[in-house]
Amino acid sequence: MTKTIFVLNGPNLNMLGKREPGIYGGKTLDEIGADCRKAGKELGLDVDFRQTNHEGVLVDWIQEAGEKAKAIIINPGAYSHTSIAIHDALRSVAPLPVAEVHLSNIHAREAFRHVSMVSPVALGVICGFGPYGYVMALQALAARL
Ligand code: DQA
Repeated sequence: MTKTIFVLNGPNLNMLGKREPGIYGGKTLDEIGADCRKAGKELGLDVDFRQTNHEGVLVDWIQEAGEKAKAIIINPGAYSHTSIAIHDALRSVAPLPVAEVHLSNIHAREAFRHVSMVSPVALGVICGFGPYGYVMALQALAARL
């Protein structure tokens, strides 16, 4: 049986590679997606990797994951800190496991990044390890599934 994992990325993550490389590193989102697909293959997971700049689209994709996926990995970007809609959408697909990923260590940055609306509804949170955080999340979910 195929184990599909939705890997959902929020606003401005399409700019990776040129966006504040001192914070987010030099990899593009396409390269991170390729890393995820490769890691997924090794772990027996089918990775559906997506990005949008729009909050409602993330909500649509979370609801779609509830129908089609075995787990969600999500980096909601700045919506992590503001979006009750994403929080509610993730709650609505419970008990689907959710891994929250951030490239940067949000707790070592500005105070407004210290709170995440997603963390209370996530199985686990990985932040500060750059793109490798996505692979760590895939490994953790593979062990779980
Ligand atoms: C981020 C951290 C957020 O605070 C920020 O708004 C982002 C990226 C990260 O991956 O480190 O867009 O989610």
